[in-house]
Amino acid sequence: MYSELLQPTRIGSWHLRTRIAMAPMTRGFACDAKGTVDEAVVAYYQRRAHDGIGLIITEGITPSPRGKGTFGVPGLFTKEQANAWRKVTEAVHEEGGTIVAQLWHVGRLTHPDLTGGHAPLAPSSLRAEGLVHRLRKPYAIPEAMTLGEIREVVLQYEQAARHAVDAGFDGVEIHGAHGYLIDQFASEITNRRTDCYGTGRTGRLLFMKEILAAVGEVIGMDRLIYRFSELKDDLPDYRWLEPEEEINAYLEASREVGLRVLHPSTNTFLQPISGGLTLHELVRKRWDGTLIGVGGLSPSSATDAIQSGVIDLAAFGRPLLANPDFVQRLRTGMPLVSYDSAIHLKHLL
Ligand SMILES: Cc1cc2nc3c(=O)[nH]c(=O)nc-3n(C[C@H](O)[C@H](O)[C@H](O)COP(=O)(O)O)c2cc1C
Repeated sequence: MYSELLQPTRIGSWHLRTRIAMAPMTRGFACDAKGTVDEAVVAYYQRRAHDGIGLIITEGITPSPRGKGTFGVPGLFTKEQANAWRKVTEAVHEEGGTIVAQLWHVGRLTHPDLTGGHAPLAPSSLRAEGLVHRLRKPYAIPEAMTLGEIREVVLQYEQAARHAVDAGFDGVEIHGAHGYLIDQFASEITNRRTDCYGTGRTGRLLFMKEILAAVGEVIGMDRLIYRFSELKDDLPDYRWLEPEEEINAYLEASREVGLRVLHPSTNTFLQPISGGLTLHELVRKRWDGTLIGVGGLSPSSATDAIQSGVIDLAAFGRPLLANPDFVQRLRTGMPLVSYDSAIHLKHLL
């Protein structure tokens, strides 16, 4: 019934068993205090690979101690962390799966209690409104990054990518969405810089481009995914004033660095955002690289979007928590369990 979704496909150097991707999902209790993952994490990803997910995108992993925005976030900034991830990638590969590491630096959306006593880093010293996830304290006032600190963070991403290679990951996704550090540079609301990292759309995307270029050099451009969004976790009412121009700026920056795979994020895949077109339709209009769809997809809406050529892969988040045997259910026609956060967040274990 969902044959398009269930068919194997080749994306760059990946041979994926299905066109189904697991969306990145922070687990918050995935590791010890040093950011090192344990056997429970191995079992969690192995189970999804065993089910037949084509591409697993991990939970956000921080490339730096200062990039952590909640408890239990794993890292890829030490050798020890990379060695622990190796057990995960080996287990996934044994099941015939493919797994990429999502690198996630939260920028201003944190507090010194989580960053080893350091002030959060951000493009400008503008404090976010609201409370830090699980810590329940107000966000701290961030430090506006110096040019030296910008360079240092780019190098941290590069080093994390080297660790991802050592750990046996098949690729890396850069989390440039949801109001976190790279998105803070991209947005006119959080980036008030007057230097080359803040002048107009092109300047605001320079940090993104430098990270993609550095990470792509290490991992290979055909193994690199970029995630961006209008959606900002701390600014629920934020909307792009000119959606097409914003998207085109991302596409131009992506092309300039030679990126091939995009994963634009929305919670409402079918919702038009400009001129009657959805986020993914707007991207597809000008992007012939690989496009991953996400956001409230069902197996049938995902199949339609693949059939019509809007997307190449369909990512599912919450449905995979409610149905750890998601692929099996699609293959056998068993109904899916609907997601209920009160019940299903336990599947993050
Ligand atoms: C518990 C949970 C944790 C998430 N953590 C992340 C994350 O670490 N990185 C990220 O880019 N998106 C994260 N997301 C967003 C998902 O990747 C996905 O885009 C979103 O859930 C919409 O897809 P869905 O409707 O299929 O669930 C998270 C979502 C959930 C439900």
